[in-house]
Amino acid sequence: MLNNIKELATKLAPRLIEIRRHIHSHPELSGLEHQTAAFVAGVLSSSGLHVQEGVGKTGVIGELRGTGKDERTLAIRTDMDALPITERTNLEFSSRNQGIMHACGHDVHTTLGLGTAMILSQMAEELPGRVRFLFQPGEEIAQGASWMVSDGAMEKVDAILGVHVFPSIPGGSIGVRYGALTAAADDLEIIIIGESGHGARPHEAIDAIWIASQVITTLQQAISRTQNPLRPMVLSIGQISGGRAPNIIADQVQMRGTVRSLHPETRANLPKWIEQIVANVCNSYGAKYQVNYCQGVPGVQNNYTLTQLLQSAAEEAWGSDRVQVLPEPSLGAEDFSVYLEHAPGSMFRLGVGYKDRTINHPLHHPQFEVDESAIMTGVVTLAYAACKFWQKNGVDG
Ligand code: NI
Repeated sequence: MLNNIKELATKLAPRLIEIRRHIHSHPELSGLEHQTAAFVAGVLSSSGLHVQEGVGKTGVIGELRGTGKDERTLAIRTDMDALPITERTNLEFSSRNQGIMHACGHDVHTTLGLGTAMILSQMAEELPGRVRFLFQPGEEIAQGASWMVSDGAMEKVDAILGVHVFPSIPGGSIGVRYGALTAAADDLEIIIIGESGHGARPHEAIDAIWIASQVITTLQQAISRTQNPLRPMVLSIGQISGGRAPNIIADQVQMRGTVRSLHPETRANLPKWIEQIVANVCNSYGAKYQVNYCQGVPGVQNNYTLTQLLQSAAEEAWGSDRVQVLPEPSLGAEDFSVYLEHAPGSMFRLGVGYKDRTINHPLHHPQFEVDESAIMTGVVTLAYAACKFWQKNGVDG
């Protein structure tokens, strides 16, 4: 079975690189992936899959029906959107859409989904059940997965696999992670309301800028003194605005930030914890406040059995020296977690770093590049894991 997959993948490799470069040079922003979706639907239909377009706005589903002896459905999720970044790679297939770039490797992900579908469509007899390919829009705005789920993408799905490229892992290697892979990411807005006055007479005013600075300092200190250091969290204020002139005391400051956490209990307590600190500081100096805490995506928690499936598929295909068990999660976010509210799943990292380069630019960098040999690694791993899935009796919850 593995040899068959590798043979099919080797034959397909030039076509997959062509597909990846085509998508790379035509990047589209989140929620606007019209051309990409049409292209994906075309490739899926010509491979004989049942195709549904317009799922979750611009998403596409391709379903492959096997021999039907098994009722289960395995989903494989890839994402299609690009970022508002001006590409600076000088590649001949650089972005042709000004100011938009596939700087997070979603062009590779889409190619992996298509390549896996093309391979498995030629091996339907190895598939007792169904494989559903989800091509998701809007991952970068952390909404696409919810759109897909609302349109029924996870109905009757028993397990889901996902992949993200990673430039700090060498091309051709794979990273799997047991348990937490990414953090929950929530949005925070704090508004401090003081009272305007002359810059020379602070005692007659309530200085919203100074109080805002106390709020930021207190929050950062409180993390180190009141949060369990073994349960990581990060609060970063990335935006702050307020004030009108150098000699007028500001009456209002707005701050916006992101809050990342790994443990659900930590996350559950954060809104109250933050509000209390803001309230204490503001009350001390007579300011009013507003705290708007908006829950974003939860963290990705990889299922044990499915992670084992990915690890064993990758090790059998490529040898254990090309498979790393990642020791640490990331505090980045990934809306793959939204699917995990409906079925167990596991997401792995596909190395795309060039081994002979001293610098591999990170994701979201205008010079981010991909070692394309990793496409072969990715499709074989996904296709082989999908075939092996049916040999398993089930997944742990
Ligand atoms: Ni990404």
